[in-house]
Amino acid sequence: MKTRILITGVALCSGALLVSQASGQSEQDTPHLRKQGSATQLIVDGKPFLALAGELGNNSATSLEHMKPIWPRLQEAKLNTVLAGVSWAQIEPQEGKFEFGIVDGVIREARSHNLRLVLLWFASWKNGLSSYAPDWLKKDFERFPRIQVKDGRTIELLSSFSDANRDADAAAFAALMRHIHQVDGRDHTVIMMQVENEVGVLRDSRDRSAVANKAFAGPVPKELMDYLQKHKDTLIPEFRDLWKDHGFKTAGSWVEVFGPGKPDSFDVPVRSLSPPLSQEAHDNTEWRKLTWPVDEIFMAWQYARFISRVVEAGKAEYNIPMYVNAWLQQPDHAWPGTYPSGGPLPQVMDIWKAGAPAIDILAPDLYLSHFAEVCARYVRQGNPLFIPETGAGATGSANALLAFGQYNAIGFSPFYIERTAGSDTDLEGTYDLLAQLSPLILEHQGKGTMIAILVNPNDPPQNVQLGNYTAHLAFASRRGGPAVGQQPSSPAAAILILTGPDEFYIAGAGLSVTFTPHTPGPPLAGLGTVEEGTFVNGRWIPGRRLAGDDTGQGENLSLRANGILRVTLYSYR
Ligand code: DGJ
Repeated sequence: MKTRILITGVALCSGALLVSQASGQSEQDTPHLRKQGSATQLIVDGKPFLALAGELGNNSATSLEHMKPIWPRLQEAKLNTVLAGVSWAQIEPQEGKFEFGIVDGVIREARSHNLRLVLLWFASWKNGLSSYAPDWLKKDFERFPRIQVKDGRTIELLSSFSDANRDADAAAFAALMRHIHQVDGRDHTVIMMQVENEVGVLRDSRDRSAVANKAFAGPVPKELMDYLQKHKDTLIPEFRDLWKDHGFKTAGSWVEVFGPGKPDSFDVPVRSLSPPLSQEAHDNTEWRKLTWPVDEIFMAWQYARFISRVVEAGKAEYNIPMYVNAWLQQPDHAWPGTYPSGGPLPQVMDIWKAGAPAIDILAPDLYLSHFAEVCARYVRQGNPLFIPETGAGATGSANALLAFGQYNAIGFSPFYIERTAGSDTDLEGTYDLLAQLSPLILEHQGKGTMIAILVNPNDPPQNVQLGNYTAHLAFASRRGGPAVGQQPSSPAAAILILTGPDEFYIAGAGLSVTFTPHTPGPPLAGLGTVEEGTFVNGRWIPGRRLAGDDTGQGENLSLRANGILRVTLYSYR
């Protein structure tokens, strides 16, 4: 049924006020993604942009009053982007009747604090469940059905098999994007959209309702089979292996093609803590094995198809980059159903790409200690890295350098940012550093001339090759030079950028760096010019010129907190 869309007078009025006449921006500059070498960059106002972001608490942006004191703190904490939730229940309190006053206020306030926005469409699903869907929809449970889990139990999780759910969600999202286009199409305060939040089935490995069971017993859709055959050589290896183990079948039921799912006898617990996962399996890497993959693959296809329609409806109104985010598999949530089954996890990326080509980015909510490994899994097949949720502090700061410098991240966004903004000097310093470096990082992303390295406590020194040299990085001692025996409690990281055959910019904190040539010829590397300094609007402003005690008498460099060094090298024997 097509619903009539009404927009309240208040919303129209505040929307009209928001349309900037003087911004000088144009529709052509609509935020979009663009390739640069092996990287994909987010283009804002015609220029590549690094989102030094933070995500607000889930409901903070539902009240302008609540947000009032928060905006200036975010700006002072050196953020340039804020991730803020938009509640479906709040914008569509009656079916087809929209109220955008709060959204308008959020856009207006972000803009006046010089912040960009990524809006999070909390709609059919949030952390798997459906707490942000409007009451009118949730009460109408015959028309908008829930899923069923083991033993026919219904839970508060809208069905991804329901066309009515999908169409209602898509219509509301289209109305939101139409409105954002109207009020922000020239200013581009809103630069990207997250569609839904951490989708997937919880409490069971798949939907067990009659409609889901029927689809599960039926054939794998031809569209999916065609995609897999076409991309057979470039599929995600762990997914390809699974398909291979079941004979690379090109047709059949889900179980025939991908193997058996969860046995009926097994109850999925809320968390996979031991028992039944043994303590040993919990503590080592065994929890990473895929359990009942067919259930997860089946649900991933279903969610991808549903959300694809929502994204298409939104993009038809205003085509800015859109992504989906994942709650990851982890020791305490090791089985599908303990983490949302069917979400955009790395092992089912191919299913999402096949089912939802309109989605630009699959994004990890990354709170895990194996940060680099997850980044590496998410940048496969050219998927751009955007980290909508993560931790902050010293560890988060090191991770941010790694994400931008090594994995060409588009953005990095610690969660519940207003709780730490102002007191988290590590993140603030790192965002200041990254803001200075942004033009240089953006120039070098995807070209093979930039590298970042993260050293964890108790790691051996790390060696990285860039240009004609190998850099050796270890924790720095307090007095400079590599630390012997002393180990800090958090990781340290550095970005190295090659700007000439023998010239580097090195930025980061807490690391000591030495070099050796890796080209044939003289075997030793010497430090030529070493300058500390800052970048102002992309221009290098040198400070002290360093030698003697500050370079270990010419033998090593030490990165002070969030420092930048320009270094030239030579080789000799
Ligand atoms: C992940 C979710 O995506 C967030 O919205 C929030 O609920 C956090 N978990 C809570 O830790």
